[in-house]
Amino acid sequence: MEEIDKEKLPHHIAIIMDGNGRWAKKKSLNRISGHIKGVNAVREVVTACRELGIKVLTLYAFSIENWKRPADEVRALMELLKEYLKKEGDEMVQNNIRLNAIGRLDDLPPDVLTTLRETIGKTKPCDGMILNLALSYGGRSEILHAVQGVLFDLQKGKIKLEEMTVPRFHEYLWTHGLPDPDLLIRTSGEFRISNFLLWQIAYTELYVTDTLWPDFDRKELLKAIADYQSRERRFGLTSEQLNGREE
Ligand code: FPP
Repeated sequence: MEEIDKEKLPHHIAIIMDGNGRWAKKKSLNRISGHIKGVNAVREVVTACRELGIKVLTLYAFSIENWKRPADEVRALMELLKEYLKKEGDEMVQNNIRLNAIGRLDDLPPDVLTTLRETIGKTKPCDGMILNLALSYGGRSEILHAVQGVLFDLQKGKIKLEEMTVPRFHEYLWTHGLPDPDLLIRTSGEFRISNFLLWQIAYTELYVTDTLWPDFDRKELLKAIADYQSRERRFGLTSEQLNGREE
């Protein structure tokens, strides 16, 4: 088992859950079976993060581009999401997990959106961990949406041009109120960001594993955290500055 330092945990972990299709193909199953197994991995990782004391977990569950997949796959993914929310809502409350969602949520089928809103409402008082689902999400759309919000408020005189700072801009993003991710994990070996949290990952540590998402479990998560903890995060400074050895 990987040794991790409980004092130096990443506050916010974000995950690009990739490889459900390849997992299924390897086992001569259909893609949907891969997504079903993927939901089990979601359950295991959410539980593990909560137990470890991770404060925010963001999962890239469905991108804006994913709407272009075959209709039966999209339908199955939406059904799995709804089922997951219905089944896990009470458990989230028991485990003090607050659900949040980012993305073009109005794109979701009405029944899925209703279940999502119900679960978000139910878990509102929870403050142990935030499970943040990216649904119909795209980083460029998020930034564009934020810019539109800024322009609107400028026009209304609610803000002044010179008041716009990085923290103020963050208030217009779908992730407002959430810290930037410390660690971004991508499964199944591809070194790509795929339009995920483009603004927020400026100083995030990236971790790519060949493990396919359905095989990603608690052990794999601990491996990723241990790797993260072995790195020196400098945020643009020198090592000496960070270690207090330079004026
Ligand atoms: C990527 O695998 C995965 C997705 C597009 C969907 C992720 C969804 C889940 C894990 C299940 C539903 C989520 C929740 C939160 C209940 P891929 O299909 O792109 O795999 P491939 O690249 O191998 O084809």
